[in-house]
Amino acid sequence: MSKYNKDSSIIIIGSGVFGLSTAYNLSNEGYRNITIFDKTDLYSLSYLGGNTASSDLNKVFREFYESKDHYHKLAIESRKIFEKWDQDLQNLKNSELNEKLTRLKIIDDCGLIRLDSEITDYELNNLETFSKSGLRDTQFVLDDLQDIKRANQQGWGHKLDLFPSLKYKGVLDSTSGIIYASRACTYVQYVLRSRGVKFITGSEAGQVKQILEDDNGEVKGISTFDGKHHYSDLVILAAGPWSAKLLPQLTRLSEGQSGNVIHLKVPQVISLQAKYSPENFPILLWKVNPKYRSGIGIFPITKPEGIMKIIVLQPKFRNPTPVNDQQAPSIPLHDESRLTKVIITKVKQFIQEFFPDLIEHGVKISKTEVLWYTDVINNDFIIDWVPNKSNLIIMTGGSGHGFKFLPNLGKFVVNLLHGDVNNQYNQIFKWRNPEIYEDVNGIRDNDRVLSEQEFASIEDLQL
Ligand SMILES: Cc1cc2nc3c(=O)[nH]c(=O)nc-3n(C[C@H](O)[C@H](O)[C@H](O)COP(=O)(O)OP(=O)(O)OC[C@H]3O[C@@H](n4cnc5c(N)ncnc54)[C@H](O)[C@@H]3O)c2cc1C
Ligand SMILES: *[C@@H]1O[C@H](CO)[C@@H](O)[C@H](O)[C@H]1NC(C)=O
Ligand SMILES: *[C@@H]1O[C@H](CO)[C@@H](O)[C@H](O)[C@H]1NC(C)=O
Ligand SMILES: *[C@@H]1O[C@H](CO)[C@@H](O)[C@H](O)[C@H]1NC(C)=O
Repeated sequence: MSKYNKDSSIIIIGSGVFGLSTAYNLSNEGYRNITIFDKTDLYSLSYLGGNTASSDLNKVFREFYESKDHYHKLAIESRKIFEKWDQDLQNLKNSELNEKLTRLKIIDDCGLIRLDSEITDYELNNLETFSKSGLRDTQFVLDDLQDIKRANQQGWGHKLDLFPSLKYKGVLDSTSGIIYASRACTYVQYVLRSRGVKFITGSEAGQVKQILEDDNGEVKGISTFDGKHHYSDLVILAAGPWSAKLLPQLTRLSEGQSGNVIHLKVPQVISLQAKYSPENFPILLWKVNPKYRSGIGIFPITKPEGIMKIIVLQPKFRNPTPVNDQQAPSIPLHDESRLTKVIITKVKQFIQEFFPDLIEHGVKISKTEVLWYTDVINNDFIIDWVPNKSNLIIMTGGSGHGFKFLPNLGKFVVNLLHGDVNNQYNQIFKWRNPEIYEDVNGIRDNDRVLSEQEFASIEDLQL
């Protein structure tokens, strides 16, 4: 028997993807006393800006997960829900729409192309996963005659040979596409608000200072920076890369690490706007190798903003922050949006090689942004009861691939409440002892500190 019921009071810390997804599923299941706290009022920003990973123009939706079949299947499931949300948006009444909430789509099947000097092992593993799922015909190896023929038949042909003068090999994956991240989060928050979920966001009232517990580790609620105490039956910590600040036990298991985002403002030249629109241009990943954390990705133009967003993979930086006498986990460096000189130099070379036409027409870097990953030692999300405490769930660890699961991560929290944890996912997402894992994300062994790097200046951003 669960000690919680539909009237239990539930506090969620964080209104990013993990917090929203949790509230979404809890409210689907009939829980009706949910309050979400966030130090930033992301809804009023329409989830654009605010220095959190979830608050962003767009993210990659992908179903390819090398040999990790469980994420592959979870992504296939989440896509269906994104598609349903798009339909739901079409069905909203005009009176429900406003500047934030529009009928612009949330998921866009523009495809994704990966280019490299050769077909890598990474690529071969992906192709094998798709074959196993019976989806091999959604993949187009760029120089495979049969695949080219099939691409032409299925309307993907025009996305195969984007850079004829550059000799790269690769694969076009037609199951991947864009999630318009800000629209997706705004929509979910809108739904939650209309169902009566309470939001306390922004300023000191929204910023959680402490999780309140008694001497036995029994959690009672939270305190906020306005001096208030909020009591609840259950607290769910979903504060992304800041989580370790409120729960130092996460140190070495899940910490914040920096990611690099660049906005290119594309000139209002009709031919360029068309050429780089999602109808004609897929997401491009160039020499992206997760194993070595290298390479660059670029999205087609997001309208109406007119932005092509670039993400740069490189070994990440940390910001170790003492939270008590023993622990100094990495949490986001406050208000830093500059990228390092090394990264900007690499991006400029990339733009010169692939997009001379944009440079010719005066494309500009309009924004740089440091967004923080919530990395877990072994890349698997953490959704579990916190050990040695009661009434506290931790829901975090997106590790750079969590956004695409906005529609369906929350159900694993519901499973915890219902004691329904003997499934593959809840087992994988359990709290774990970091010492026994290989450090695939550089959490133990990384001493690269962001504040010590040489940053690019405004002049360095000139193309
Ligand atoms: C650069 C980058 C690129 C990515 N690309 C992709 C991609 O292409 N595809 C994909 O699927 N995933 C991607 N991800 C991963 C995805 O964005 C994350 O997994 C997801 O957004 C994490 O959501 P979250 O809710 O855990 O954290 P966050 O979005 O960081 O949200 C945490 C929230 O907690 C709030 N908070 C923190 N501390 C407190 C406090 N004390 N009190 C109150 N509120 C607090 C913050 O304000 C914030 O709103 C990417 C991540 C990064 C960084
Ligand atoms: C929700 O929970 C809070 C905290 O326990 C309580 O004060 C409030 O009355 C509850 N609201 C409803 C509608 O049950
Ligand atoms: C929980 O408490 C036990 C006993 O004090 C301790 O050995 C263990 O390390 C604790 N677990 C965590 C994750 O803190
Ligand atoms: C919510 O979670 C429950 C329990 O895990 C699941 O059965 C249900 O399908 C989920 N709902 C949505 C919309 O994801």
